[in-house]
Amino acid sequence: MKLTTLTLCASLALVFASTAQADISLHNAITGEILDMSFAKKGGNTEAFKQFMQDGKNPYNGNKEVVEKGKSLYMTGCSGCHGHEAEGKLGPGLADDYWTYPRNATDQGLFELLFGGANGMMGPQYVNFNTDEMLQIMAFLRDIYTGDPKKAKWLTK
Ligand code: HEC
Repeated sequence: MKLTTLTLCASLALVFASTAQADISLHNAITGEILDMSFAKKGGNTEAFKQFMQDGKNPYNGNKEVVEKGKSLYMTGCSGCHGHEAEGKLGPGLADDYWTYPRNATDQGLFELLFGGANGMMGPQYVNFNTDEMLQIMAFLRDIYTGDPKKAKWLTK
């Protein structure tokens, strides 16, 4: 009996510990539904991702080493549709300041669109990349940005 109470307390503590980490909630870019993070590939729950879940900002932005890794992931998983310089091909350009989905000018919005996908050929990227890799790709995209600096909302929110 005592043991059961203890186990219950321990599991409750665990539940609180894991929910306390996430301060933002993520939504599908099209439907607005809460993203089901149980689809996430293994290995992506890194310190950087945990930090991202607190304020929705990508801690990898401006980190040159990560930008290089993000670039090679982008070349394998995205360039076929978005172009090698993200200039646009089957899918829209990703380096300028025009967004079909304006929330992509924030890191949280961009992550939500990558994880959950958008319309047509833009499927959910959790199939190919873990959440940390998505942050790496995002850091690459921010690095090659050619748009108006005033519209770079990720720098402020
Ligand atoms: C099979 C082709 C395909 C692949 C692979 C693909 N995309 Fe897309 N992507 C598209 C299409 C088509 C759209 C337009 C969808 C829409 O408007 O709803 C799109 C839309 C987007 C948008 C929204 C752009 C805007 O203007 O708001 C972003 C951001 C994006 N893709 C990033 C990526 C990244 C990063 C990857 C790689 C991890 C990727 N995509 C892989 C085809 C693709």
